[in-house]
Amino acid sequence: MEAYQALERRRSTRWFLDRPVAIEDLKKIAELGLRSPSWVNSQPYHAHIVTGSTLAKIKEEFLAASQAGKASQPELAATPRKDWSQDAQEHMAHWQAGVKTTLGDMEPLQEAAIHLYNAPAVVYLTLPKGYSPWSLYDLGGFGMGMIIAATERGIASLPAYRFVVYPDIIRKYVTIPEDEVLILGIGLGYRDPSAVVNRITAPRKPLTELLDYKE
Ligand SMILES: Cc1cc2nc3c(=O)[nH]c(=O)nc-3n(C[C@H](O)[C@H](O)[C@H](O)COP(=O)(O)O)c2cc1C
Repeated sequence: MEAYQALERRRSTRWFLDRPVAIEDLKKIAELGLRSPSWVNSQPYHAHIVTGSTLAKIKEEFLAASQAGKASQPELAATPRKDWSQDAQEHMAHWQAGVKTTLGDMEPLQEAAIHLYNAPAVVYLTLPKGYSPWSLYDLGGFGMGMIIAATERGIASLPAYRFVVYPDIIRKYVTIPEDEVLILGIGLGYRDPSAVVNRITAPRKPLTELLDYKE
């Protein structure tokens, strides 16, 4: 598969099959992600890959915490909706309306989320405490590099805030140094084609809305 095909075909997967991803594939995906550019080659990020019984324990505790109504405590705070640009707020509202139309209501999505989308592998991405804002740019590139490498291998993905809403649970099972900030998780696995949540699509704004071209 060419890179442009991987970019065209990639979509977020919100329910994965009960099929593990080989550790060799996970390592290769991380290695290819590392080919991403970063500010003065700072490579400020760290990836913690979690699978198997450790991820199973995290999922179990996340589920119990979600069902108990535990508040999200992300280490990188989520920006309240009202503080996004008008344009971004409209796109978010449009996406959510589309999800409701596709699924009937938001429940299947919430149900998938509390089960961490049945992901057989999660890559937790961290940055050092006190990181430069530029490192968030670099981290995004690293994540996208991994996502494209995964797509090329037939491995589906989901970058999700949801994976990191209870850092205390993750830190109980994964040795993440205290001087690292947990930013995001990327779920990796094989897409379940029959899952209703995998029918969700995300339209893009026309190129003319975001692109200026001047000769
Ligand atoms: C930083 C970030 C956080 C995200 N968090 C979630 C999440 O918690 N739950 C979820 O279902 N999707 C999450 N997504 C996926 C986005 O909803 C998705 O990328 C967007 O709707 C575009 O759809 P596509 O990835 O299928 O092209 C996240 C994506 C990014 C980049």
